[in-house]
Amino acid sequence: MAEEAGSDPGLFLAGDGFVLRPWRPGDLDALLRHADDPQVPRGLSDRFPHPYTRADGEAFLAGKVVDLSQALAIEIAGEACGGIGLRRGTGERAHSAELGYWLGRAHWGHGWMTRVVARCLDWAVPALELERIAAEVLDTNPASARVLAKNGFVEEGLRRSAVRKADGLHDLRLFARVWPATGRVER
Ligand SMILES: CC(C)(COP(=O)(O)OP(=O)(O)OC[C@H]1O[C@@H](n2cnc3c(N)ncnc32)[C@H](O)[C@@H]1OP(=O)(O)O)[C@@H](O)C(=O)NCCC(=O)NCCS
Repeated sequence: MAEEAGSDPGLFLAGDGFVLRPWRPGDLDALLRHADDPQVPRGLSDRFPHPYTRADGEAFLAGKVVDLSQALAIEIAGEACGGIGLRRGTGERAHSAELGYWLGRAHWGHGWMTRVVARCLDWAVPALELERIAAEVLDTNPASARVLAKNGFVEEGLRRSAVRKADGLHDLRLFARVWPATGRVER
């Protein structure tokens, strides 16, 4: 099995004005600056808390919240200001991964995440031998849906009332992109 995204401490994916690389203990202060914002977790799962405390940041950087071997920091202007992760499936789903990402609000609306996702996929699809990448987007998050559409993802359907947020139940929109696969069975 190919290496996972954040498991190589020397991984350094240069993009147009940004870098994707593994999270480091020294990212704590920058992480807190960008993550402790009520707008950021609105479209994310409850694993991303608000307020985002120093203890939350330390737990994240210690790998206690998500598997950091499957996550990369987004670095803009020399500091980590967001993250992107690819969680690989297991067994018969090992050719696929779930994509997730967030960016500090200071950088929203400048096309960063569209370019970050493109750079991440350009590297990950061949390096991790992936043939399908999927993402779930909360019904209140059109910006994220747009990022995926601009990266060639297709909307496949809806998980109705799948998530309970503070204001009630929400649908999850399902997006995925597949790559021409040698192993695909034609019917
Ligand atoms: C969603 C998020 C990653 C977008 O990052 P970003 O760098 O601002 O995204 P981009 O600038 O590359 O693209 C955003 C697109 O959404 C569009 N958009 C923004 N707000 C929108 C809205 N309310 N309705 C429709 N489209 C919207 C923008 O116009 C842009 O599309 P365009 O290039 O066609 O004009 C960022 O807002 C974020 O981190 N949010 C919090 C965490 C989160 O929701 N993560 C995703 C979980 S699925």
